[in-house]
Amino acid sequence: MCGIVGYIGNKDAFPILLKGLHRLEYRGYDSAGIALVSEERKNLNVYKTRGKVADLEHFVESKDISGTIGIAHTRWATHGEPNDINAHPHYSQSENIALIHNGIIENYAVLKEELLRKGYTFQSATDTEVLVQFIEYVKDSNHTDLATAVHLALSQIVGAYAIAIIEKNNPDFLIAARKSSPLVVGIGEDEFFLASDATPIVEYTNKVIYLDDEEIAVIRREEGLKITSIENVEKTPHIQELSMNLSQLEKGGYPHFMLKEIFEQPRTLLDCMSGRINVEGNNVVLSGIFDNQEKFRKAKRIVICACGTSWHAGTIGMYLMEEYCRIPVVVEYSSEFRYRKPVIYPDDIVIAISQSGETADTLAAVELAKSHGAFIYGICNVVGASIPRATHSGSYTHAGPEIGVASTKAFTAQVTVLTLMTLVIGKVRGTISEENYLKIAQELLKVPAKMEQTLQLNEQIKEFSKIFTYAKNFIYLGRGYNYPLALEGALKLKEISYIHAEGYPAAEMKHGPIALIDAEMPVVVIAIKRGMYEKVVSNIQEIKARKGKVIAIITEGDEIVKQVSDYYIEIPDTEECLVPLVASIPLQLLAYHIAVTKGQDVDQPRNLAKSVTVE
Ligand code: M6R
Repeated sequence: MCGIVGYIGNKDAFPILLKGLHRLEYRGYDSAGIALVSEERKNLNVYKTRGKVADLEHFVESKDISGTIGIAHTRWATHGEPNDINAHPHYSQSENIALIHNGIIENYAVLKEELLRKGYTFQSATDTEVLVQFIEYVKDSNHTDLATAVHLALSQIVGAYAIAIIEKNNPDFLIAARKSSPLVVGIGEDEFFLASDATPIVEYTNKVIYLDDEEIAVIRREEGLKITSIENVEKTPHIQELSMNLSQLEKGGYPHFMLKEIFEQPRTLLDCMSGRINVEGNNVVLSGIFDNQEKFRKAKRIVICACGTSWHAGTIGMYLMEEYCRIPVVVEYSSEFRYRKPVIYPDDIVIAISQSGETADTLAAVELAKSHGAFIYGICNVVGASIPRATHSGSYTHAGPEIGVASTKAFTAQVTVLTLMTLVIGKVRGTISEENYLKIAQELLKVPAKMEQTLQLNEQIKEFSKIFTYAKNFIYLGRGYNYPLALEGALKLKEISYIHAEGYPAAEMKHGPIALIDAEMPVVVIAIKRGMYEKVVSNIQEIKARKGKVIAIITEGDEIVKQVSDYYIEIPDTEECLVPLVASIPLQLLAYHIAVTKGQDVDQPRNLAKSVTVE
């Protein structure tokens, strides 16, 4: 939710900031802006505009973009509609200070009232402008410098923020701070970078510091970096090395990141399994569980907290763990869990699933569960993000950076980690038979090849997806392990094509949604020859009897469903609990091609952002 980037060094700041914004655009793309201190002309130039980073690039043509220090922002609107004025950076009253912000200042209304009474005026409808005005007010009224003013002002701020600030008369000074919104500092040779995540930094340096909550980074050209708490206590920075590589951040010849990421899945699954499962498929090791075996042995319940696609992966995890670990599992929307006054026991294990590792609701759910003494296990993709740092233990999904806003490879990697966890927990608790353990582990090793085979259907899916661009609604049906997959298929379609889609357990259809079925209604049915196959075939008959259009995902060679469906996609057979991994591919491709045919911006769908750092 909003991307921020900053630079101070001996190079021109503008191209570095602009490239950084392009990398962070997945976090928000309704407006963008940049502020630069021009040392030569002693100006603090702020340029901002509604639209994407490309619009900003166009907007600054023939403007003064000189300066070796600057900050830049790409926005996902919270307070104030997306327009030029509400775009960041925001000036202070005197226009001596410029600030960018990711997060929400909850007490902005009270502060604004106070400032209005003192004669301050506001241009925008944002909470961010209140913050920069407030910092200037604190600075002026205390006759102090900007660093001290930021410390004093932030001690009065309620809410979430990652901010970066520069000052007109101080071209050697950049200050940044975070609370509940991510911020990374990159350390180069006589230069420093700031960013919401490491992607804008990786091509300049692999040395980074992930700021902790309520930390302030003060960077001076001569003295370098100093990190303090809001109370001004100096902190020892923990410098980490990035393992990301640049090619992961490019489209690599694909028209969209989403398609690239769909095609990457055989590779990402191998990466996810690497070092965790041996080639014979008879030994699965997850150090995060191994080091905490007693907790998993004694746990009475597992609570999974997540949002969106990660919640769907968590629901597949529930089916897996209940079947093979014989432990009650509940799957919670983090946003509901955190406010519901849930009953949490100290012997609960709470699994937090998040691609970004920054989702505000999931992070809050983690903190809540921790405060009740539960053991928290994280499944995250972004290394070093807030959630993995807040958990007791966990497993990374190792899917590599996911840039497309619609999650694809992170989902299948999450399901893979949950499968590995099931095998390990099942063994620790003695609930999984040797036969099932081997069967699942050995078949899991074959899934990347089966995904590869399924990806060959891309052209076929592209062709028939054209038929469905007329649709206003879609229904997705599945049972058992494929019910959460139906939900995920529907979410993929609606978020990128803007076609309304509902996922349902197939047997629930007759309790209501069947009323929607007519000759116009496409119904995607995951009708694999496993689990409750015959019952799903009956559901297909019920749809056909009402003239619905059935698109079935079937097991290779299944002549029965071929005959009763209008369109079918054949995928290779696999273990029932692993079907969602292979069957994800046609659902992702179907959504992708429908959205592309409709001319939608699949990588940056309207109103969405990749990392939801606000509640
Ligand atoms: O980063 P997270 O996994 O915590 O994000 C959760 C959701 O915001 C995310 O899965 C969202 O639903 C995606 N747009 C789905 O494609």
